[in-house]
Amino acid sequence: VKRMTVPQFAARKGSPEPLVTLTAYSAPMARLLDPHCDMLLVGDSVGMALYGMDSTLGVTVEMIINHGLAVMRGSQKALVALDMPFGSYEASKELAFETAARMLAQTGAQAVKLEGGRAQAETVHFLTERGIPVIGHVGLRPQSVLSTGGYTAQGREEADWQPILDDAKAIADAGAFALVVEAVAEPLAEKITDLVAPVVIGIGASARCDGQILVTEDMLGLFDWSPRFVRQYAALGPGISDAVAAYAKDVRSRNFPGDEQVYKMRAKKPVIKNS
Ligand code: KIV
Ligand code: NA
Repeated sequence: VKRMTVPQFAARKGSPEPLVTLTAYSAPMARLLDPHCDMLLVGDSVGMALYGMDSTLGVTVEMIINHGLAVMRGSQKALVALDMPFGSYEASKELAFETAARMLAQTGAQAVKLEGGRAQAETVHFLTERGIPVIGHVGLRPQSVLSTGGYTAQGREEADWQPILDDAKAIADAGAFALVVEAVAEPLAEKITDLVAPVVIGIGASARCDGQILVTEDMLGLFDWSPRFVRQYAALGPGISDAVAAYAKDVRSRNFPGDEQVYKMRAKKPVIKNS
């Protein structure tokens, strides 16, 4: 099986068949998602989804590298992209290149994603000119939560559209092959999709984007809360609770382990007398 390449992914711009993408952080989950997905993103959402952090700000490059290695081991055909953590790229284009090169070299993943618009355009250009495929991320940018004060949808008043459009255009012109557009009003997401050359991957955006992404644990219903843009395709949280309650009941009643789960002594070989 050959992995989806960056050019193959980018060639889906305007395609009638949208790109299917999800986050992944572990090998077993990657193995389950890979047959269905065009891209797996090792998102810095790992900080919240797996580590219980209350924002993505504490996620480190080492965390993304370790989870990236796991996702590479668990997947065969999906493109694998890595989020650049907060603090690992913003200070300069050189810092961004060094971090991105190390992340890709150590994992074998194929692309990096970084948050920001016009302020990151020079960095995106620097990276793409040097062989690093970049995914941009505009609209709601979780790494800026301290400045913005919360996670709120963007562009719900037409007066707020221009800066977001300028951000999307700047990242597109800088050479990004894909652009995540998060939590923006549907018509703005559609306008960005029509306007820019990179494939636009929506999350809380529009069904008219070139593809969609969700945090896997959100769409599997692992948490009691998720943003309004998540559709829950399973209820893993309640499913796990029920399973653990049944296990606890069996242990307490000495119903577990049962005959199938214990090792019996081997039967003694009969001794055949030779006379
Ligand atoms: O960190 C993440 O999971 C993301 C996607 C939801 C786009 O950035
Ligand atoms: Na992210």
